[in-house]
Amino acid sequence: MWVMRQAGRYLPEYHEAKGSRDFFECCRDPEVASTLTLQPIERYAGLIDAAIIFSDILVIPQAMGMVVEMVDKKGPHFPQPLDTPADDQYRQVLERETHVADELDYVYKAITLTRNKLAGRVPLIGFCGAPWTLFCYMVEGGGTKLFARSKTWIYKYPEETKKLLLKLADICVEHLALQVKAGAQLVMVFDSWAGELGPSAFRDFSEPYLAHIAEKLPQKLQSLGLDRVPMTVFPKGAWHALDAACSLGFDVVGMDWLQDPAEAVRIRGDRPVVFQGNADPGVLYGTKEGITKAVEEMVKGFWVGNKGWIANLGHGITPGVDPENLKHFFQEIHRLTKQ
Ligand code: CP3
Repeated sequence: MWVMRQAGRYLPEYHEAKGSRDFFECCRDPEVASTLTLQPIERYAGLIDAAIIFSDILVIPQAMGMVVEMVDKKGPHFPQPLDTPADDQYRQVLERETHVADELDYVYKAITLTRNKLAGRVPLIGFCGAPWTLFCYMVEGGGTKLFARSKTWIYKYPEETKKLLLKLADICVEHLALQVKAGAQLVMVFDSWAGELGPSAFRDFSEPYLAHIAEKLPQKLQSLGLDRVPMTVFPKGAWHALDAACSLGFDVVGMDWLQDPAEAVRIRGDRPVVFQGNADPGVLYGTKEGITKAVEEMVKGFWVGNKGWIANLGHGITPGVDPENLKHFFQEIHRLTKQ
């Protein structure tokens, strides 16, 4: 059991440790990043089973030479998003070699430091954004409701889009492998915007690149003399793709709250995939009774047979959640799975 964005704004100690630092400054300072990673582990000691490194999916576009800022209360912002394939910037991003090990060295240092500080209390999760989700940010320049620029790219310039997606997938493999080398014990790929694609567009623009990561990462780890680690994929919103996600080569499939747990278990069938999820993070705004009901539904659906289940929210904790409600969520999962 752990939750997405377990370190962050809802915790008063986060604001205190972050001080006046910018978000990416925190990511780039291994001491600060490890302190923030540990905060929820310390606050919820004995209740939480994994830490996730304090970082961001957008460190990859930064490593590729793009400028990304985190604007307070607005989210990520790229001053110069990719415009069209005729653009110089597209060519540069595509052709310039990305020195992942150098550019993202601070992530690996933060991971190693965090493993030391954890001293075996709980395992540490590493992560990256999925190629499709990273691509969306790189062309949209930030959050969006319409995905007009992303859709322009995939429907007008599909081949140029695919070239970039493949490059992103290779960078993801390298970034995840180096996180494992630094000490990450499970890795997760966040495809937060998978749900923007219909079934056939998902097959064209997301699935092949997720499969590429699942295939190449174990090979890369082997070439580095490292053991394989469990891999999680989280194709948020792509409920139609659950069946496909169970056959992508990932060990764990994370899902959001649009999915009914019992139905998901039926779709999985005999495949040796562990599910992760999936309570609506919004239940944490409600009452303790409501949280208990959401946990009961998850336990009833997921906690079947002996296939395992990683209890989680269906997406990240949202700002303004009462940390005591999150504690109740954790306690109820313990209570209802220990019977
Ligand atoms: O879960 C954790 O505790 C680990 C750290 C983590 C962060 N971002 C820290 C963060 C993880 C795993 C992420 C992943 C991430 N980042 C994703 C994929 C997961 C998802 O939410 O779908 C995405 C899409 C991003 C990009 C990003 N970074 C967004 C959309 C935002 C929110 C902006 C906003 O203001 O709402 C961020 C900021 C961010 N990343 C925060 C944290 C703790 C909040 C930063 C702050 O306000 O100080």
